[in-house]
Amino acid sequence: MPAAQPWPLAKGATVLITGAAGGVGHAFALDIARYSQAPHLLLTTHRTPLPPARQRELESLGATVSTLMLDLADEAATTAALTHWQHTVGPIHGVIHAAGLADYGGIMARRDAASIDTVLAPKIVGLCAIENALAGQPLDAVVLCSTLGSFLPAAKFGQAAYSAANAWLDTAAAQLSQRHPGEW
Ligand SMILES: NC(=O)c1ccc[n+]([C@@H]2O[C@H](COP(=O)([O-])OP(=O)(O)OC[C@H]3O[C@@H](n4cnc5c(N)ncnc54)[C@H](OP(=O)(O)O)[C@@H]3O)[C@@H](O)[C@H]2O)c1
Repeated sequence: MPAAQPWPLAKGATVLITGAAGGVGHAFALDIARYSQAPHLLLTTHRTPLPPARQRELESLGATVSTLMLDLADEAATTAALTHWQHTVGPIHGVIHAAGLADYGGIMARRDAASIDTVLAPKIVGLCAIENALAGQPLDAVVLCSTLGSFLPAAKFGQAAYSAANAWLDTAAAQLSQRHPGEW
């Protein structure tokens, strides 16, 4: 195992983590709590609130925890909620975008638009809303949780919408720093 690395975050930095009730979002929250100084974690969940035991665990590691329940498929509401949060609480310094939906829709011949859109939305619409709300805000760290399926497409057979959503994230990762030079 490689040695743990500190996160490139100032003491007390605020990090937005989407999909925080999920396994990957929680793993990131724990890692940031352990390997940065007194972070403020803004954890967004969707239908399932953050379990209180998880919040206590993060706080016991020195993190401050705030939570928001958001449907990332709603771009306007998510942009508004994140903008309001920054105006009332303070700036966001890092983003972990770990929200996503498993894709059980199967091959394209069996898909309708809804079965595709619901899988695309949390990753794509969610990131658009985050970008809207954080434009002009310098960020120290941005992580977009994609999939190794981008490199091993056979592993994602029958998951066309999931593959498309992650391919979009892969491209966005390259483009965000060009759209926000010196900031993202
Ligand atoms: N787990 C892995 O092994 C793995 C491997 C490679 C990549 N990844 C990537 O990491 C992402 C997260 O994985 P995971 O295992 O943590 O998945 P997970 O446990 O299913 O968590 C995903 C979270 O995203 C939230 N979400 C879904 N739709 C949303 C929406 N419209 N608005 C807001 N939040 C929404 C879910 O909340 P609700 O349940 O409340 O809807 C859920 O808590 C995956 O999408 C994948 O791209 C995971």
